[in-house]
Amino acid sequence: MRKVIFDTDPGVDDAMALLFLHHHAGIDLLGITTVFGNALIETTTRNALFLKREWQIDAPVAQGAGETFLPHRVSHAPPKYIHGDDGLGNIGVPEDIDLPLDPRPAHRFIIDTIRDNPGEVTLVAVGRMTNLANALKEAPEIVGLVKQVVIMGGAFAVNGNVTPAAEANIHGDPEAADVVFTATWPVVAIGLDVTMQTVMTRQALADIRDAAGSSRARLLFDLSQFYIKFYEGRVPDGMVVHDSCACAYVVAPELFATRSGPVRVVCGGIADGATIQKPDGRGFGPSPWDDLPSQTICTGIDAPAVLKLIHDTIVSVRED
Ligand code: BDR
Ligand code: CA
Repeated sequence: MRKVIFDTDPGVDDAMALLFLHHHAGIDLLGITTVFGNALIETTTRNALFLKREWQIDAPVAQGAGETFLPHRVSHAPPKYIHGDDGLGNIGVPEDIDLPLDPRPAHRFIIDTIRDNPGEVTLVAVGRMTNLANALKEAPEIVGLVKQVVIMGGAFAVNGNVTPAAEANIHGDPEAADVVFTATWPVVAIGLDVTMQTVMTRQALADIRDAAGSSRARLLFDLSQFYIKFYEGRVPDGMVVHDSCACAYVVAPELFATRSGPVRVVCGGIADGATIQKPDGRGFGPSPWDDLPSQTICTGIDAPAVLKLIHDTIVSVRED
C-alpha cells in the first residue's frame, strides 16, 4: 500500500483524481490538504469536505494556504470560467458542510504525517505548491523523510495554459514551486507536455458512470459537465484530466517517459512561472541550475492506457 497525502484545489479534475485515489486498491489515503487556486481557499476546502462526505472518504481534510508563499506577490483571480463559481462545475454545492476539519493548517498536517511515517509518504500535489513550500520552510528535514513528491504542474517543451510560458499551478505561486523543485527530495513533475494528451471524452465519462452504477460516479459525471464545456473547441468533445495523470503516475510510472535534471522556475518578468529543466548530461556554462538536485519531468505518456486505468479504478467500486 502506498501512503499518500493529496494536496489539492478542487477543482473538477481534482475531484476525479480524488475519486481515483480513494478507489485504488494500492493507495492508502492519509489526508487531503487544500490550497487556493481553482477557487478561494474557503471554497476549495468546502469542496474537499463535500467530496469527502459524498464519497465516504475517511481521510481527514486540513485547510491550507489562501495566499502565495511570498505574501507580497500579486495573486491571480480564480478561473471561474473553467471550474465554475463554486469550483465544482456549478452543481450547487451547499454553503456549509457539517464535517470537522483537521485542527492543523495543511503544512503542519503534512509535516506531522511525514514524521509519523518516515520514508513512506508520497505527496501528490495538484494545486499551487504553497503548502509544500510552507512545510519545507517550517521543517526542512522532511526532505529526507518523504518517499516521493509527485506534482501536476509545469510546461517544459510546450506552451503554458495561463500564459504562453506558464502552467496554472506553477504560475499561481512560482516562488513556492521553485522551493519545491530545488529541495533535496525526489520530485516528479507531470506537466502539460503529457496531461494535454490525456483527454477523457464525454462518452468515456458516461461509460464510467454507467459501468460503476454508483451515486459517486454520477456525481463525478455531473460536476464535470461545466469543465467539458470550457474545453469545447480546445479538445475533441471531452476534458483534460490533468490531476488524474499525476495520480496514475504514482501507481503506474511505466506508462510515462521521463527525463532527469535540475528544474528552476522563472520568478517574475514576462515568463513568470515558466518551468525549465537542465537535462542531466548536457554541458552549459555556469548557471542557476548548478549544484541542484536532479528531478524528474514527464516527457511522454501512454494516454489510452492512463485513461483505461482511470476507468478501471473508478468503476472497481461499483456500489455505495
Ligand atoms: C491545473 O490547473 C488547475 O486548473 C487544474 O486543476 C490542474 O491542477 C492544470 O493547469
Ligand atoms: Ca488542481
